[in-house]
Amino acid sequence: MVLLIMKIGGFYKFKKLFFGGIGLFLLSCQAPEPEKGPFFANGIKNGWADQNSIVLWTRLTQNKLAHFKGHPFVEISRDKMKSLSQNRDIEGIYNTQIPQGLSLKDMEGYCPGAPGEVQLHYFVKGHPEETVVTDWTAVNPDKDFTHQWKLEQLQAGKNYRVKIYARPQKGQEVSDSIFGQFLLPVDQNTAKDIKFCVVSCHDYNRRDDLENGHKIYPSMSQLHPDFYVHTGDIEYMDKPLPYAMTEELMRFKWNRLFALPFQRSFYNDHTSYFMKDDHDVGFDDSYPGKDFGTVSFERGLEIFDEEQFPSYSKRYKTIRWGKDLQIWIVEGRNYRNQNYLKDGPDKTIWGAAQKQWFFDTVNDSDASFKVLITSSPILGPDRKNKNDNLSNTGYAHEQAEILNFIKKQKNLFIVNGDRHWQYVTNIKDTNLWEFGCGAGADVHAGGWKQEDFRPEHQFLRVKGGFLSVSVSSGKSPSIRFTHHDVEGNPVNEVNF
Ligand SMILES: [Fe+2]
Repeated sequence: MVLLIMKIGGFYKFKKLFFGGIGLFLLSCQAPEPEKGPFFANGIKNGWADQNSIVLWTRLTQNKLAHFKGHPFVEISRDKMKSLSQNRDIEGIYNTQIPQGLSLKDMEGYCPGAPGEVQLHYFVKGHPEETVVTDWTAVNPDKDFTHQWKLEQLQAGKNYRVKIYARPQKGQEVSDSIFGQFLLPVDQNTAKDIKFCVVSCHDYNRRDDLENGHKIYPSMSQLHPDFYVHTGDIEYMDKPLPYAMTEELMRFKWNRLFALPFQRSFYNDHTSYFMKDDHDVGFDDSYPGKDFGTVSFERGLEIFDEEQFPSYSKRYKTIRWGKDLQIWIVEGRNYRNQNYLKDGPDKTIWGAAQKQWFFDTVNDSDASFKVLITSSPILGPDRKNKNDNLSNTGYAHEQAEILNFIKKQKNLFIVNGDRHWQYVTNIKDTNLWEFGCGAGADVHAGGWKQEDFRPEHQFLRVKGGFLSVSVSSGKSPSIRFTHHDVEGNPVNEVNF
């Protein structure tokens, strides 16, 4: 990549105009405009930030906005979905879910990609005179018109401003531009207060603000987190309207979700770590061999890992956020074997390499607080009939292996998504704590009875919201885990 240094004037003035314009576009959201793109309807996402690097993602679109005023899909029964999936009946998948006479482009949320080129400009906040500018690069039509940059040799602890330009092709004028920003972690010797938010489980159809997306996003913005983690089930391929049993429909659902204003403006502006879970890939509780319609399990992983989100080959990473906090992001789908196997030393969700990496890196860490972030529970409790995560009896062997290690650690806490209720679990007389962040909207909450408060529950709330974690640095550092409702109000707090 050839890099140029140039000055950019009027950056902030333009930003104000640009974001001020988003609200107006929404109010007048109509059928796709015949404007000359390409545009950035899906915004920017970033991922895998550490002290010196980050991955940025964007996608070029035909229109400024998704076609949110399009026709609603037809809801088919779960049995019908299963039979279409089993038979890989492509014609049936479309004909049953799209009204007769219409096609996908007429449907609610359609947000087609567009060919074109993108150019990235970025600089440390306050230093626009040192803007780094990349070469123009074509987006990849084979990857849904997306492009990613891996930025390296960045400065720890700095806030970076980002602007991306689009043009149809070489020699043509810029058709659109978009702003973003991210913050990088300080190094392990620097004491700094840190706050981050954790979210799980939401989808387009269960958004709680019909115009804008999910309320948790503006609520989290108000807390000014240093970073944000989505533990997965970001969208549900195996839920109706439509059941995404083809690659095209999976992309349709990703494009529609990322075009929501709340999602888009939050992701543009916050350092993020995107994890994935079963519904992002295909079918409920998915594992190798469990394909969804025409999309194989492996292809579902690939669309998430390599196309729709910032890429990172291992999908697990530990990041030091200063002297007092280190987080571990673990991968729960790529390395697992089949759920139906008999439990034993070889049955795994994490895989041997990831497990060893976790043990080694925790042993090497001198952070005051260690937070393991996992897409699904390790402690639970979970429902008896489940057989997909480490808290289920079918994974007792690997659960014991990991918990026996965690028991020996000081100040290591588990934070998880997947379950649609908020909870805090502590196993009596142990240092084992698990904080389930719960679903991203009230309408998405369920799966547990509010009155089923078990001895290990320190807190239980069958409603939507998110979790925030705050670390106070200083002579005697502390960590606080706060559950919030969707409006951002605290509903429970645990301090250490
Ligand atoms: Fe979920």
